[in-house]
Amino acid sequence: MDYFNYRDGVLYGEEVPLTRIAEQFGTPCYVYSKATLARHFRAYTEALGGHPHLICYAVKANSNLAVLGLLARLGAGFDIVSLGELERVLAAGGDPAKVVFSGVAKQEAEMARALEVGIKCFNVESRPELERLDAVAGRLGKVAPVSLRVNPDVDAGTHPYISTGLKDNKFGIPVDEALAVYELAASLPHVKVTGLDCHIGSQLTELSPFLDALDRLLVLLETLRKRGIEVQHLDLGGGLGVPYRDEHPPAPFDYASALLERLSRWEGSDRLTLLFEPGRSIAANAGVLLTRVEFLKPGETKNFAIVDAGMNDLIRPALYQAWQTILPVDTRRARDTATYDVVGPVCETGDFLGKDRELAIAAGDLLAVRSAGAYGFVMASNYNSRTRPAEVMVDGEVAHLVRRRERLEELWAGEALLPEASLPED
Ligand code: LLP
Repeated sequence: MDYFNYRDGVLYGEEVPLTRIAEQFGTPCYVYSKATLARHFRAYTEALGGHPHLICYAVKANSNLAVLGLLARLGAGFDIVSLGELERVLAAGGDPAKVVFSGVAKQEAEMARALEVGIKCFNVESRPELERLDAVAGRLGKVAPVSLRVNPDVDAGTHPYISTGLKDNKFGIPVDEALAVYELAASLPHVKVTGLDCHIGSQLTELSPFLDALDRLLVLLETLRKRGIEVQHLDLGGGLGVPYRDEHPPAPFDYASALLERLSRWEGSDRLTLLFEPGRSIAANAGVLLTRVEFLKPGETKNFAIVDAGMNDLIRPALYQAWQTILPVDTRRARDTATYDVVGPVCETGDFLGKDRELAIAAGDLLAVRSAGAYGFVMASNYNSRTRPAEVMVDGEVAHLVRRRERLEELWAGEALLPEASLPED
């Protein structure tokens, strides 16, 4: 459920007509709904009820400071994958003690900063990373809290680019090597085992892969227990899917109930804090990308609606052939209906936002690309020297600009011409 709905033929974000946002802030423009973000976050905390838990929002999904600040205020922790994400969380007022640090290539400086601010846990993905962390913590006179990210080898049944829990993927420690790495961790002086972690993929629409992964983790926990290694938390990663088109992913409540039921058979489960790292299921349907039709270009085999947002603004359709619903913002005027490929201004055939869409539109009309709140702006680039769009968050009747549109000079800020002496003579 989200707060983007039609009223009298006009699409609103909460109480604000999207036409007003386009007038005020221009297009292309990302629009987020505060109430939707809060609702999706609370769906997790309510689903987990009294069971000890921490929801660590996956910053990579949408790292705008306003989004992070809102979630921090609601009590969220954060799953980060870089120093940049850590600094964003801190800048947004997030609590470092609720931060978990994932990622396969953590650098020494990133580890050092995370130790300095006192994060909750490092999700360690390999033996050499564990050794590096022990060394960095040793130099700083600290002990690093550690959870091993285990790769349970289950098929998440999702797009191959966003499936992460298979043997062939670069992520995590193979489940049958995990015991040895835990034993190593237990023997190192500057790390302390606190958890067990996995993340099997993104946009999962079935519960069974999550439950299969949990079963494998519980077997490992039992083995660890026998060896005297106890963990305080179990981190099940992110991955819950969202409806983009006609998918029916389980709701956080169904997901949590099934997990808690499975977990209750495990002795001591009530003392095991559950961590989740949801990104998409909190942010995706809390955002739209607002774009304007520049031209309609009828063709022999295809009609094109050429809009002012391109693959540099929203790359998911081009990169994953992802379907995102495209809606006209103002349906009050009569228009002829036709089937269009909705394409952007970028000089690539792969630059499309949607294909074969039935739309009743004219040049100058506004369109909203739905489900764009996650992996939208964060994956935007300056390709074709295009400035990245503005970001706006609506809160009831108010629209806040939470990131202004990039300025042209910013495109080459940091670049330099070659010095005169290095240039060929005229
Ligand atoms: N935790 C870890 C360790 C992750 O790698 C990810 C996502 C998450 C949590 C959050 O997963 P979520 O709840 O959002 O599914 N750009 C792609 C998605 C890449 C996901 C990468 N990892 C897309 O646009 O579909």
